[in-house]
Amino acid sequence: MAAHGSKTLDDVGRLEPTAARLVVVSNRLPFVLSRKPSGEWNVRPGSGGLVNALLPVLRNRGGLWVGWTGAIDGSVRELEKALAGLTRDAGYRLQPIELTGEQRDKFYYGFSNEVIWPLFHDLQTNCNFDPEFWRVYRQVNNKFASALQQRTEPDDFVWVHDYHLMEVARELRALGTRCKLGFFLHIPFPSLDIFLKLPWRAEILRALLDFDLIGFQTLRDRRNFLQCVRTLVKGPSVRGKGQVIELHLEEPGVGAPAPRELRIGAFPIGIDYNSYAELAASESVAQRALHFRESLRNRQIILGVDRLDYTKGIPNRLMAFKNALQRFPELRQKVTLVQQVVPSREDILEYHNLRLEIEHLVSAINGEFTEPGWVPVHYIFRSLKLPELLAYYRAADVALVTPLKDGMNLVSKEYCAAKVDEDGVVILSEFAGAAAQLQRGALLVNPHDVEAVADCIYEAVTMAPEIRRARMRRLRRTIRDTDIFWWVDSFLRAAIEKDLSHFPLVEDYVPETESVLTH
Ligand code: UDP
Ligand code: G6P
Repeated sequence: MAAHGSKTLDDVGRLEPTAARLVVVSNRLPFVLSRKPSGEWNVRPGSGGLVNALLPVLRNRGGLWVGWTGAIDGSVRELEKALAGLTRDAGYRLQPIELTGEQRDKFYYGFSNEVIWPLFHDLQTNCNFDPEFWRVYRQVNNKFASALQQRTEPDDFVWVHDYHLMEVARELRALGTRCKLGFFLHIPFPSLDIFLKLPWRAEILRALLDFDLIGFQTLRDRRNFLQCVRTLVKGPSVRGKGQVIELHLEEPGVGAPAPRELRIGAFPIGIDYNSYAELAASESVAQRALHFRESLRNRQIILGVDRLDYTKGIPNRLMAFKNALQRFPELRQKVTLVQQVVPSREDILEYHNLRLEIEHLVSAINGEFTEPGWVPVHYIFRSLKLPELLAYYRAADVALVTPLKDGMNLVSKEYCAAKVDEDGVVILSEFAGAAAQLQRGALLVNPHDVEAVADCIYEAVTMAPEIRRARMRRLRRTIRDTDIFWWVDSFLRAAIEKDLSHFPLVEDYVPETESVLTH
């Protein structure tokens, strides 16, 4: 048994009751539960950048991860039981929040994914500003806050993630919490003109200001946020420059008299670089990558990996690939686009229609260009297990990452970490948060400009090997130096003057409630 940092374990392997915990709160837990016809629970890993990024942070820290399992049936006790084994293996406790069918529809699909998600990605025409969604959004944020209030101690650091839970600090303050509260927004924060369209703009902005620290992915997001604060809130003033600044407010907050202050920072999220690189370097992933290349007759592979989402620019990308095949006929038979799409939010009409649009475009391109022994687009519509995904990353010569707008985009970083042979090119949208960090190694492009993307594809597949390597080395260095542990440490230092090592690593951690959960 080993513990780093100053805290110790008691004789049954639990953290001392006084140890401060890291309490992570997100709409989604890292596991999705669904009921089998037999009544038992089926468990599968969650998808998306948020859970993949946070998993290595909490692993074995003995902390708590509070969130929804994706299920709308089952009591909290039943869900806790279903998660018990996973809790034991993970080394932190998973605390489920149960949602009703109405809450899933109006809070998750409705307000989160039909109002905030499109608006914050600059797609206001996709928004459905139904007032009923707002009512249920506040109700669910209150539900999360009540669960947190019951399960936290004043020393815990409560770290809330993403756009589903922007009201949690306000609700927790009203309940009298004494915990420090941090918030990180994984998606972009829109410019003033767009944010002003939100009917509940003032409420949401004020609720965010009840956190002690608010983190954004990029300086641009932070600038947008500050502009909205200056417009909608009385007498704000900013002190400091750099990654973290202080905001002084003349308005009181919930339970906080005026004047008051909070911190605002830009913390570009990273990945667990070493884990990805190590697994990608393993013999089994190398063999699998070789097999992929051979099955595609050693043609150059251009890879797209995305959740099914209209922000990812998949149709634009397919059009750009088509344009490249038209304008550069020498690419035919020489390149294959492998486009993987992870199913997501298909109960929302736009997502369902997007799937149809993508499938139509793929078949149109293949219909037009396929020749004996060559199919230009290989399309995968399912989740891949990590070793398989890494094998695709390793096998691909080019990563084509062209979201119309993205908070960060972790796929671009994972691709580079997996390129252990340092040979590959990243084509990256200017509108991905990652562009700010990766601009010197990637080929940056406007995803709306189909011809420019096609030109980049041509440039990437014809790039001299020494230039590809030099660029990839630079990308890998940046991604390694600003990995997920760098990110979490920067955030915790700004929030509570601690880093991850203050939340001790507990290799044999036994969750406190294990006996309740498993028997
Ligand atoms: N991913 C996954 N299963 C797959 C393919 C990808 O879990 O079959 C992961 C990928 O490894 C990455 C995440 O999904 O960590 C996508 O994160 P990104 O930031 O690129 O976009 P998001 O989905 O969060 O919008
Ligand atoms: C993005 C969001 C996350 C979300 C993920 C998957 O990464 O920032 O908050 O969890 O997409 O979407 P889902 O709706 O399945 O949770």
